[in-house]
Amino acid sequence: MRAVVIAAHGGVENLEVREVARPAAEGDRVRVRVMAAALNRADLLQRRGLYPAPAGAVRDVPGLEFAGEVEQLGGEARAWRAGQRVFGITAGGAQAEYVVVPESALAGVPDNLSWAEAAAVPEAFITAHDALFTQGGLTVGERVGVHAAGSGVGLAALQLARAAGAQTFGTARTAAKLERARGFGLDEGVVVGEEPRVFADAVRERTGGAGVNLIVDLVGASYLAANLDALAPLGRLIFVGTMAGSKAELDLRVVMRKRLRLRGTVLRARSTEEKARAVRLFAEQVVPLLARGVVRPTVDSVFDLAGARAAHSRMEANENFGKIVLKV
Ligand SMILES: NC(=O)c1ccc[n+]([C@@H]2O[C@H](COP(=O)([O-])OP(=O)(O)OC[C@H]3O[C@@H](n4cnc5c(N)ncnc54)[C@H](OP(=O)(O)O)[C@@H]3O)[C@@H](O)[C@H]2O)c1
Repeated sequence: MRAVVIAAHGGVENLEVREVARPAAEGDRVRVRVMAAALNRADLLQRRGLYPAPAGAVRDVPGLEFAGEVEQLGGEARAWRAGQRVFGITAGGAQAEYVVVPESALAGVPDNLSWAEAAAVPEAFITAHDALFTQGGLTVGERVGVHAAGSGVGLAALQLARAAGAQTFGTARTAAKLERARGFGLDEGVVVGEEPRVFADAVRERTGGAGVNLIVDLVGASYLAANLDALAPLGRLIFVGTMAGSKAELDLRVVMRKRLRLRGTVLRARSTEEKARAVRLFAEQVVPLLARGVVRPTVDSVFDLAGARAAHSRMEANENFGKIVLKV
């Protein structure tokens, strides 16, 4: 089968489309004929040699999410039939004509989504749903902050928070992305330049000093002080990404005084059982919203497999608004 292969660590020139062995489905695993797979920041890091695939995952074919048709079932797989439209997550190997995953890593694609739209869903929406609700405990009427509001995960988080009746605050470094994000559940946008403190200032000003109850932070280290400042008493801060670094100074007094909860989350490294739980909640709570058009994927652009280098470059330059998809 054809697959995107990371031939060596480094720049985009190390991405190649090659013929590789087609994996077989055994046990409770399912082989999916991939129609489209989306790109993630993790793929960029993996290409540069900074984020190796976890043990047991395909090592040199990137791709954490996909949409396609069930094609072959392992002997113990019971949940799916050949030909069904599915989407799902994997720890690697999705940017290829076929991917093999546990049946619990899949959910059914609603009829209203094209293949490209479906591929743009799983990683962003499962991550956002998990961060907001499972980790963050979001409840109706709360105020939520989302950094990198124009990102794939950010746009999913804004829409899900809005659907849950929350008021949303979002940041980006690009004003145009915030403007577009208004159509995806953003209530209050804040352009953050060199000084993340403007986020806390804006939140204080626009909430009468009350602060936000929950922050889904996709940016990381340099936003920590502003996040602590912007949170209301008993607020929760969920670390999801480290695009602006992973090391920061933490003022414990603020955490203590406000009785804050700080929590980190990663999807890729979780066990099969933990991923199955997140996917089940996604299937129960998010897929119906996608089917009704209450929330929708944001496809920034579509490349074919041979365009993987250009796709990486686009994401690396922060040009994308939402998801970059590779059509297989
Ligand atoms: N923990 C998990 O399980 C998990 C799962 C999926 C994704 N993630 C993480 O979530 C984050 C977002 O992923 P994504 O795929 O949604 O990204 P994306 O669609 O590529 O968007 C990322 C956006 O973040 C902004 N950005 C980039 N570098 C930044 C920096 N240094 N400071 C502030 N903003 C910056 C850029 O927009 P502007 O500069 O225009 O604002 C960029 O377009 C990434 O860190 C990713 O690794 C984590």
